[in-house]
Amino acid sequence: MVETKQGKLFFDGCDVTELARKYGTPLYVYSESVIQAHFDELRRDFLDRWPGSRVAYAAKAFCSLGMCRLAQRAGMCIDVVSGGELYTALTAGFPPERIEFNGNNKLLQELELAVSRGVGRIIVDGAEELDMIEKLCTALDKRVSVLYRITPGVRADSHDYIVTGKKDSKFGFPLDEDVLYPAVERALAAPHVDFLGFHFHIGSQLFDRGPYIQAVEAMLEVVGQVRERFGVAVTELNLGGGFGITYTSEERKPFRYYLDPMLERIADRFDRWGLPRPAVVIEPGRSIVGDAGMTLYSVGEIKEIRGVRKYVCVDGGMSDNIRPALYQAVYRGVLANKMDRADRETVTVCGKCCEAGDVLVRDLSLPPAERGDIFALFCTGAYGYAMASNYNNNPVPAVVLVHGGTDELMVRRQSYADIIRNQLIPPSLE
Ligand code: LLP
Repeated sequence: MVETKQGKLFFDGCDVTELARKYGTPLYVYSESVIQAHFDELRRDFLDRWPGSRVAYAAKAFCSLGMCRLAQRAGMCIDVVSGGELYTALTAGFPPERIEFNGNNKLLQELELAVSRGVGRIIVDGAEELDMIEKLCTALDKRVSVLYRITPGVRADSHDYIVTGKKDSKFGFPLDEDVLYPAVERALAAPHVDFLGFHFHIGSQLFDRGPYIQAVEAMLEVVGQVRERFGVAVTELNLGGGFGITYTSEERKPFRYYLDPMLERIADRFDRWGLPRPAVVIEPGRSIVGDAGMTLYSVGEIKEIRGVRKYVCVDGGMSDNIRPALYQAVYRGVLANKMDRADRETVTVCGKCCEAGDVLVRDLSLPPAERGDIFALFCTGAYGYAMASNYNNNPVPAVVLVHGGTDELMVRRQSYADIIRNQLIPPSLE
């Protein structure tokens, strides 16, 4: 979907230099075709091959009304982790029964919204949460289907901030027998709760399927224990998300690389037990929207520190993409209006926030940049807009959806007035 025509960068049929002119910069641009292609792959290689399976798009990667619609239109479910994401999905018209509510330390008011609107699943993250759900269901006269999130005790290889499957984790139930099984027993006995099975999510941006296989084996062990101890066959397993994408090259592992060995093991074990195969759910976020998004910036000041480095400053930075500063994430970018230029120099692209750490790409080879050029940073679709802030009171950029040469606004650019909308001058300071 990324092409060059007459020296200019095109994304899903749109000249991005034109988009920058039309909507201003910084600008997030999402390709509908790329998102759809990922959903198509999941339909073909997972949903159509495993009866009863579901894909719950992890909204946290990019949560907006338009994105909820895209997921819904593709026949996906959605995974939300907060009242705010739940509200966004509901406001977009997402059918509540196709919403799955994840996250640790869910607040009473968040659970109340979820239960009263009838969400499809609540992934219970701790023992007290079950009590809160049972009480709410009693008060509201509702039933709810739940899974328990377990921490399978595997160590996945990614940035330390985004690995979640090891035992020392704030997420889920540890596999300790005296903790997990009494909690399962309580769920099985809870009158308003249908206990369906287990969930894990071992981390994000993972390239090795080894830890997934270990996690599914730990999960199947638990399923076997539940069968032995309580005579109950679980009917649903949720394998989370975390499938990695490449930020600096084109190749990427297909979903089947991760899913097939897990599905084989699940099939094998349930067949051996003589039990119907369970529904299997996954929650991909980054792998759906990561490479479907790019950010456009205008080049401003160019600063050469002789004998040290050349800084190319752009009009956004860590306020619209915190990932380089937070996780030392490495991105690739180009000058969208100078794609046919062969001459190159090594520069560091930095933002305009008041921090030395506000660097988007270090040591990038670009044609000589000039004020007014359009710098396109690739693969910013996941956890870019989602983690944007108003640091330095920079407005959050607009989001545009492109598709086969058409462009539509999906999120308006914040104004300065938006930034101070909720602020008050305390009367004592008037
Ligand atoms: N399911 C659960 C329960 C999760 O916690 C997450 C991500 C996902 C699914 C989706 O994972 P994905 O497929 O997107 O890897 N801000 C970080 C990533 C944090 C991921 C948190 N949980 C980053 O920018 O790298």
